Amino acid sequence: MIDGKLSGEVYYPSEEVISNANIKDWDALNKAATDDYEGFWSNEADNLHWFLKWDKVLDDSEKPFYKWFTGGKTNIAHNCLDVHINTHRKNKLALIWEGENGDHSTMSYFRLYKETCKFANILRSLGVTKGDRVTIYMGRIPEIVIAMLACARIGAIHSVVYGGFSVESLHERIEDSQSKVLIVSDGAYQRGKIIPLKNIADEALQRAGIVEHVLVVKRTGQEVYMESGRDMWYHELMNLPIANYNNKCEVMDSEDPLFILYTSGTTGKPKAILHTHGGYMVGTYTTMKYVFDIKDSDRYWCAADPGWITGHSYIVYAPLLNGATSFMYEGAHTYPYPNRWWQIVEKYGINILYMAPTAIRGLMRFGDAWANRHDLSSLRLLGSVGEPINPEAWRWLYKVIGREKCPIMDTWWQTETGMFIITPMPCVPLKPGSGTKPFPGIEADILDEEGKPVKTGEEGYLVLKTPWPAMVRTIYNDPQRLVEQYWSRFPGVYMTGDSARRDEDGYYWIIGRVDDVIKVSGYRLGTAEIESALVSHPAVAEAAAIGIPHELKGNAIHAFVILRQGFARSEKLIEELKLHIGHEVGPIAKPEKIEFMDTLPKTRSGKIMRRVLKAKELGLDPGNISTLEE
Ligand code: PRX
Repeated sequence: MIDGKLSGEVYYPSEEVISNANIKDWDALNKAATDDYEGFWSNEADNLHWFLKWDKVLDDSEKPFYKWFTGGKTNIAHNCLDVHINTHRKNKLALIWEGENGDHSTMSYFRLYKETCKFANILRSLGVTKGDRVTIYMGRIPEIVIAMLACARIGAIHSVVYGGFSVESLHERIEDSQSKVLIVSDGAYQRGKIIPLKNIADEALQRAGIVEHVLVVKRTGQEVYMESGRDMWYHELMNLPIANYNNKCEVMDSEDPLFILYTSGTTGKPKAILHTHGGYMVGTYTTMKYVFDIKDSDRYWCAADPGWITGHSYIVYAPLLNGATSFMYEGAHTYPYPNRWWQIVEKYGINILYMAPTAIRGLMRFGDAWANRHDLSSLRLLGSVGEPINPEAWRWLYKVIGREKCPIMDTWWQTETGMFIITPMPCVPLKPGSGTKPFPGIEADILDEEGKPVKTGEEGYLVLKTPWPAMVRTIYNDPQRLVEQYWSRFPGVYMTGDSARRDEDGYYWIIGRVDDVIKVSGYRLGTAEIESALVSHPAVAEAAAIGIPHELKGNAIHAFVILRQGFARSEKLIEELKLHIGHEVGPIAKPEKIEFMDTLPKTRSGKIMRRVLKAKELGLDPGNISTLEE
């Protein structure tokens, strides 16, 4: 900072933005939250409904298994719906939806409440009770929101599996969560084609025998197999007398589980990140209110998928907790033409648009004309999430889409954090590519190998030093893994798995993952998932996957395989392996390149040294290879 001015390329908020913002003075809010951290969150929690007030705001008696609002009784779904229907929001739109094929619908708070109650009754009638797990596997349609809220309402734990995942990913998640009910749609529209979700589910269910009931939402209408006694149509169930509006909401303890969401970790199978009713509710509600500066009249669009944490927190829960009107779009951003999103913004008068850098880069490459054809003047705030946004994409978004008047909220967070952690607010000066600073009261740091804070401008491990309400509570079925993965590398602090640096103004710049997680188009994949899918093919003996920087996707996957004896290397086999990964994990996991190898670089203890493969691919020095086997 020189003479009170920040260094580098800085975009200061306009007077207009500041005067309209919920928070006008970030420093004052940060000071208040830092001086009385628990008081800050307690005040926020007071804005929500509790059947019984909490005894303790933050309970650290069993850290790192922190607990929040202990003793409190609430239900997040009650706060999303019931509290609004006795206010002016009763007939306000909760959800506006457009399908890729042009279908559209709207749902008021009252209607969403009623549909949720009806479906909650259906679930109860099938024997689903508090603590049971329910897997949800659908496209971006309103029923996914109803299904999630209905589970929350009756205290069942939802486990949403992203509709872009395929057979083995779905099977593994059903199996691990031991879900007895699966809610699925017949299909989903994507780029004019139908993704046959029910077919994929049927194949996954052949591998997992525990599911007793499959509830099928009709979206695409093609013929699907319905197993007698197991499969039932959602629309038929919703017409039964039992599907009435009389539904008593389950009173949940603050710390009762709300959902599990599988995410890729450093090793082995995906981890079931568990979030709870109380803290998650307070954290997502508060961050949405301050960062997206949400107003009652806003139309807000989070273009993520409900199957990832962004959708859980900022399509479903936070907007409803804030009584906002949310827009949801089913399909691909460039289908049928690269102006689809801008058409939507204009048509629905979207005020806040939240998206991933990969989409921004993908749209930018088509030039400005597609956006310029549309009136985007309703936009007042933009958001970015999922991976670092390169300054060039940031500037394009700011100039061409935001017409130089919309601040960009570059929000850094994770499945595990549940809510925004490093993020600006509209009143904060912005620097393209930086998420600015931690949310008020939260302390982050950047550490070197020894756990000492690095110097300004130096790269290191990003850690969080303060617990926060929406933090991961445990890994379902595997609590010890929480301690090992996040709290062991540097005792007492939360290890994010990202590297970052901090500039002289205290702004954070995320560099990327430092573990074996690959971010492809903002989607999180583990090298282990890709590798085990490859090895499940009869031709493959061993495999390694790495992420290589990619202009549009952020990272692309390159895979290396050693073939079993008797299999010959060929282009045809490469194509077959790509298809196999698409079928097992999902299209997002398809490697861009597969290379045949005779050996893979390994440590003496047999661990694949992906870093060496990556260095070779990039033509870089592999660094310290003293542990290499040969
Ligand atoms: O590497 C960071 C990157 O996404 C990771 C978390 O992925 P996931 O759990 O799938 O959640 C994504 C949506 C919250 C982080 O460890 N990441 C997320 N947001 C940003 C980001 N990297 C840079 N800038 C961001 N704004």
